Amino acid sequence: MSFALLGPPMISLRKTKSLSRITREWDAIAGLREQQISSGKDHSANHVLAPAILDELTAVDCLVDVGCGTGWLTSRVASRAKIAVGLDPSRESIAIAQTRHASPSITYHAESIEEYAHRRSRPRFDAAISNMAASSAPDLEAFFSGSRRILKRDALFIATVPHPCFWPLYWGYASDPKFDYGKSFAVEGEFKIRKQASDMLTTHFHHPLDRYMSALEGVGLPVTKVRELSGRGFKFPRFLLLISRAV
Ligand SMILES: C[S@@+](CC[C@H](N)C(=O)[O-])C[C@H]1O[C@@H](n2cnc3c(N)ncnc32)[C@H](O)[C@@H]1O
Repeated sequence: MSFALLGPPMISLRKTKSLSRITREWDAIAGLREQQISSGKDHSANHVLAPAILDELTAVDCLVDVGCGTGWLTSRVASRAKIAVGLDPSRESIAIAQTRHASPSITYHAESIEEYAHRRSRPRFDAAISNMAASSAPDLEAFFSGSRRILKRDALFIATVPHPCFWPLYWGYASDPKFDYGKSFAVEGEFKIRKQASDMLTTHFHHPLDRYMSALEGVGLPVTKVRELSGRGFKFPRFLLLISRAV
């Protein structure tokens, strides 16, 4: 089921969407994302999200970037680790990561966190970051549970997601009569950053704040710190940074 919003940009709220469809969307937009971030056009990625994550990240032996996309942030956080791994089911994104953001200390894998965690018999990582990826995963609990499975006890987990209270206002779907803050939705729309709209579709999931908190708690990643992050051109916080310690 999907309900279109009136007026541009075209946004529709769906109950869900499969990981394979979401992966195809990120495959299609991978080249544009690389260009937006490396050219500096994406202010939030470069000047809000990346610095906030780096601020919270201590030096570790083994680090993973869950849902690493084109690897731009994996290569920045890799300076804090002896070994870094980036994983993402989008093959096009991983191909860019392997050519544009390669380093001898980084390994990239074209697979979902669920697949990656399934192949691992014991926890390996001292820290994980995940930038705007949990909100792109159709199964939030499986995304967090896979992340927990590959982390050692006491490991740090730093995730950013769209701020559930304000992102719906920023994207314009808060006024959709079908929108219900307390429910989860797949939100399909033309991808935009503040400086550039595109005609390519991407999907993110809206989840109420308490679903994020209870999903993390439920898999053994209770949240120990929350930060609200603001970007340019919008008066409310646009992103949420959640920090957990693996128990
Ligand atoms: C908004 S993009 C963010 C990418 C990257 N972290 C960045 O900062 O540019 C969301 C990413 O999450 C990935 N993703 C969605 N579901 C996933 C899953 N189950 N496991 C790992 N990555 C996933 C998508 O393929 C996509 O590349």
